[in-house]
Amino acid sequence: MKRSLPVHFTGVHGNAVLLAQKFLAEVLQEGSCAVDATAGNGNDTLFLARCVGPKGKVYSFDIQRRALEQTAALLKENGLLGRVQLIQAGHEHMEKYIKEALRAVIFNLGYLPGGDHAVTTRPETTINAVNAALKNLEPGGRISVVIYTGHTGAAEESRAVEDLAAMLDPEIYGVLKLSFLNRSALAPYLVLVERRVTDENLAP
Ligand SMILES: C[S@@+](CC[C@H](N)C(=O)[O-])C[C@H]1O[C@@H](n2cnc3c(N)ncnc32)[C@H](O)[C@@H]1O
Repeated sequence: MKRSLPVHFTGVHGNAVLLAQKFLAEVLQEGSCAVDATAGNGNDTLFLARCVGPKGKVYSFDIQRRALEQTAALLKENGLLGRVQLIQAGHEHMEKYIKEALRAVIFNLGYLPGGDHAVTTRPETTINAVNAALKNLEPGGRISVVIYTGHTGAAEESRAVEDLAAMLDPEIYGVLKLSFLNRSALAPYLVLVERRVTDENLAP
């Protein structure tokens, strides 16, 4: 029997990041492997580290040293640094660093809040990274992409992510675009992807 994308959000008054976290929390469990593709100030990394438990592992990428320092400080403050590998490299290189199958990957695009607004995620590297995440996503695994519309190149980036997501085989992936209808048209929105639990319905 085919499964539809199960989304059990408990509320929609939050922001896009909270919804992304809820979407991933549903599939994360003790011992899972997860990726924060854009560490920034470390909030998503901290969230993932809590979800995977002491036996789990989180890989957290950012190109800016300052972002990783802030992430490390936040994790240390919460006693969770031990289960996270911080990597100062572009997320498009994640396959070089990660050999495990991935249960959840979070992308929070754009620039570092409080940092240099000229340093942002970019369409080509974002697409390469989403493709790498898809390649290593385990059955039942999920990817969330929080998409911002304000930074330079944001329009191209959002289009590229949507185009990629729209091309994914519906026999293998459930894909959802989620936006707030009663907020500014510039409000961040989500692209959510889930890989089906089994491939049993597929033709050989
Ligand atoms: C909106 S912030 C992330 C917020 C973060 N997840 C948090 O919880 O605070 C986006 C981050 O993406 C980073 N970034 C930009 N290009 C990147 C790339 N190619 N690989 C990894 N990180 C990148 C930026 O340096 C910035 O820190």
